[in-house]
Amino acid sequence: MNRRIFGWFLGLGVVGGSVGALVAAGAPGLNQDQTPPPVPLGLPPVQWPADNPYTHEKAELGKLLYFDPRLSSDATVSCASCHAPEKGYTDCAPVSTGIKQQKGGRSAPTVINRAYTTLQFWDGRASSLEEQAKGPLANPIEMTNEQEADKAHDAAMGRLRQIPGYVALFEKAYGDRTVTLDQVAKAIATFERTVVSGNAPYDRYKAGETKAMTTAQVNGMKLFFGKARCDSCHLGFNFSDESFMNIGIGWEKGEPADLGRFKVTGREEDKGAFKTPTLRDIPLTGPYMHDGSMATLEEVVEHYNQGGIKNPYLSQSMKPLGLTDEEQADLIDFLKNGLNGEGWQQIKTPKAADFPH
Ligand code: HEC
Ligand code: HEC
Repeated sequence: MNRRIFGWFLGLGVVGGSVGALVAAGAPGLNQDQTPPPVPLGLPPVQWPADNPYTHEKAELGKLLYFDPRLSSDATVSCASCHAPEKGYTDCAPVSTGIKQQKGGRSAPTVINRAYTTLQFWDGRASSLEEQAKGPLANPIEMTNEQEADKAHDAAMGRLRQIPGYVALFEKAYGDRTVTLDQVAKAIATFERTVVSGNAPYDRYKAGETKAMTTAQVNGMKLFFGKARCDSCHLGFNFSDESFMNIGIGWEKGEPADLGRFKVTGREEDKGAFKTPTLRDIPLTGPYMHDGSMATLEEVVEHYNQGGIKNPYLSQSMKPLGLTDEEQADLIDFLKNGLNGEGWQQIKTPKAADFPH
């Protein structure tokens, strides 16, 4: 198992961000707190990017920006509208609702443990959290009424520059009062890298606490890594190798309702492939899949037990599993009760009075 996790790390190439980068963290002349918060049991330390190392000042600024609806053009939608802490950093809806009640085409994935990975979105079209954070600000069905990205970003920066409290916080975090899109993205990404989940019953069981899971849950775990082969894709400490896989979601009509990864790579075999999501805190974040088409974990397990939905690009790892009713129940028990973690609950949602004016 350990070798596997290590391989996973190397595969993503995230070992590069060294501790040395941490030391050089702060902007020159600023007295900043550069010690990242500790991570819970079961998680490796976060590798902070060399060009956006942790500072407490940036994380605090990023938190305010993340929760502040004033980032949207009509001050109605924040990042947290669609990635809400009380909903496991999702919105628990099949598709998300942006400004003026507009609906998007995909389900909002969780922000939890995104710190450990590079490619973002269901199709991996953003290559970092920094790049991802710029997306919603310029998305006309999410946070802006502008049609062009540049105009949307300029408008959002203009709104922030008019709030003296924010300008002061940007100065504390970056040493200047400009308030740029890059600074906003870096602050939000820094905050997101503190949204972590570990110390689940599964982690405690692995660490030797034999009573952390029931016999049924332990059996479910063994099925997960054995007969059910969930770990062909959901592997490593975050239960994902971040690969793009076709498991047959959205193929009811014989063609993909959403082309998925194909839109980024143009490769035929990527049609209908989506990123393998983490399974940590999974009971909190339904409905499931990129289109929110499965309401329950029972439905999800049934889908896998049948071997997914047949299509020309279905992953080779998708085969009927032949799980008995009892085995399915144990696997579901493990998913529902073994993977609920801790860490992100310590982040308190800012109250109205906490936001800068
Ligand atoms: C209107 C709802 C909505 C808003 C507002 C929104 N998001 Fe999202 N977010 C989504 C949806 C839907 C996706 C998936 C889209 C896709 O994959 O094409 C997503 C994807 C993401 C991802 C990628 C996660 C992954 O597993 O790849 C991150 C990170 C994220 N959002 C953070 C943010 C941040 C930060 C903000 C604020 C700047 C924000 N979101 C605003 C709905 C929203
Ligand atoms: C071939 C790779 C693969 C295998 C094997 C696999 N998964 Fe998945 N899993 C994925 C992908 C990819 C998605 C997202 C698919 C989509 O939305 O189109 C997913 C989605 C999920 C989801 C929904 C997550 C969410 O946030 O919406 C759950 C739950 C899940 N898988 C559990 C399991 C279980 C349990 C098993 C074993 C029975 C399993 N998976 C086997 C690749 C895989």
